[in-house]
Amino acid sequence: MDPIVSFENVEVDYDGHLVLKDVCFEVQPGEIVGLAGPSGSGKTTLLRHLIGLKRPVRGRILLFGERLARLSPAAQRRLRQRIGVLFQGGALLSSLNVYENVALPLLEMGFSDTWICPMVSLALSLAGLPPENAPRMPSELSGGMVTRVALARGLVAEPELLLLDEPTAGLDPVVADAFIALMGDLQKSLGITALMISHDLRALERLCHRIVLVGDGRLIAQGRFHELKQKADPRIRSFFRLDGERNP
Ligand SMILES: Nc1ncnc2c1ncn2[C@@H]1O[C@H](COP(=O)(O)OP(=O)(O)O)[C@@H](O)[C@H]1O
Ligand SMILES: [Mg+2]
Repeated sequence: MDPIVSFENVEVDYDGHLVLKDVCFEVQPGEIVGLAGPSGSGKTTLLRHLIGLKRPVRGRILLFGERLARLSPAAQRRLRQRIGVLFQGGALLSSLNVYENVALPLLEMGFSDTWICPMVSLALSLAGLPPENAPRMPSELSGGMVTRVALARGLVAEPELLLLDEPTAGLDPVVADAFIALMGDLQKSLGITALMISHDLRALERLCHRIVLVGDGRLIAQGRFHELKQKADPRIRSFFRLDGERNP
């Protein structure tokens, strides 16, 4: 099967300052890949490149087999419509209520109200939000509910790829666990393909088929959670907070 996402020797920077180089990994259909690494290591930057907000200095990024940067604006828009994104912190529009936030991708795609209403209801229900929340404003919601609204917005247009940036950051452990369980159920029922940025070890272990670990300006390792946990590399051990175990 062709990969949904592939990074080939990608180098990214900000204003000439190198952030990451030699990044090579793929996301296959039906896979949840975790993109992990310390804060500031360049995870969100990679995501911004993937959705075409920035262009890589070197290498190629393929999305559904296409190079986003090479496409016309209209073709880029069509490709982006096949992706659902859950930005860090939810990024809900504060002036719109829950229903309107979730409906946004459908409005941009030109759906009529006849379709939008049932699709928003379905997305809210998939994200585990009771329908009475539809008229509420983002300021009235808890952190866990904001994450669920953002997930509903990410799912509403039935994306072929879901991108999540630190979905459990800032949530208390019980709410984070509920979100992880919900994502696990959705993976089983819908067979979601996703790239999830996270440094939450529980989320990475429970949800991801593979982990791509970045740090020190490059890709450090990739593999299954439990395989990576066995590695002797101190940067990997430090990520898994195993440093103390050698000298207890
Ligand atoms: N808009 C920006 N302009 C300049 N530098 C940035 C910008 N966004 C991020 N950076 C820098 O790029 C590096 C990677 O940031 P980021 O991708 O946000 O890391 P992560 O998501 O892994 O925490 C950091 O050193 C950060 O300071
Ligand atoms: Mg980030």
